[in-house]
Amino acid sequence: MRSIFWEDGVRLIDQTKIPEKFEVITCKKVEELGDAIKRLAVRGAPALEAAGAYGIALAAHERDFKDVEEMKRWLKRAAEFLASTRPTAVNLFVGIERVLKVALTGESVDDIRKLALREAEKLAEEDIQRNRKMGEYGAELLEDGDTVMTYCNAGRLATVDWGTALGVVRSAVEQGKNIRVIACETRPLNQGSRLTCWELMQDGIDVTLITDSMVGIVMQKGMIDKVIVGADRIVRDAVFNKIGTYTVSVVAKEHGVPFYVAAPKATFDWGRKADEVVIEERGREELIYCGNRILAPPDVNVYNPAFDPTPLKNVTALITEFGVIYPPYNENVPRILKFD
Ligand code: MRU
Repeated sequence: MRSIFWEDGVRLIDQTKIPEKFEVITCKKVEELGDAIKRLAVRGAPALEAAGAYGIALAAHERDFKDVEEMKRWLKRAAEFLASTRPTAVNLFVGIERVLKVALTGESVDDIRKLALREAEKLAEEDIQRNRKMGEYGAELLEDGDTVMTYCNAGRLATVDWGTALGVVRSAVEQGKNIRVIACETRPLNQGSRLTCWELMQDGIDVTLITDSMVGIVMQKGMIDKVIVGADRIVRDAVFNKIGTYTVSVVAKEHGVPFYVAAPKATFDWGRKADEVVIEERGREELIYCGNRILAPPDVNVYNPAFDPTPLKNVTALITEFGVIYPPYNENVPRILKFD
């Protein structure tokens, strides 16, 4: 099942509920979708790309318009609002801008509605296809019997379907390879333990959960053959992914374990460098509470960045839908992804 789709509005799997409950919610207004993005009901860079795309289609459908000019002004406002929900994953902006651009070429209200929805559906379908491609290329890097460490959730839930990092694992398993996954819990919001473990177990893929603080010992013990993670934004000198990814890359390097990043072309923001990227900082309550339990003195100072940059020098290769890209990245990324 797709993590996000259109059916009388934007429907999405509420990822805050998994694994306790499986619930699909419907957003009938852009404001509701914005709220779903902020509270991480929909999350993961490619799923956010689809959310941004469907968000513009939703803006075109959610109310009546007196004329095309009023509608276009509304769509632009909706685009700004959606873009303000989360700052780090570049895919969100890619999805919004792609559908907005097409929608603004429409000449009637009906025309704009059709154009926006068609483009959003196209983008969602393309996400699945590119993940499949990435999976095929990435699976060649995995050998029968490999144990793969992953961080956060870069699976079906983080995309429209199949996944990026977990898509590589799925494709290798589909080819008949025996692959085991070690999933880091990924504090503070536990996308690893809640989402990665849940979706791999649904597919019958062998997964073992560890806490983030166990990354060192499992590498020391030689339990990991490869690391594969996803990405929220890839710039000229770094890969931005869930907070803690950098630490995993350092430990992997120390132990000579290959560290791969699987991400589509849309995640590359090759015109920028790491110090230009805004890292989302989230609320203090994420560290202080676990449900109703208090984990720290409620008035303690808290620092809660949601992402960190992993220098590209720590990345063995980038797995994309156009192939596996090896260093030197400054030459090979623009050549293979056809950037100027
Ligand atoms: O805060 P989140 O859960 O949206 O962060 C998600 C990640 O960091 C993922 O690893 C990344 O988006 C890649 S998803 C294919």
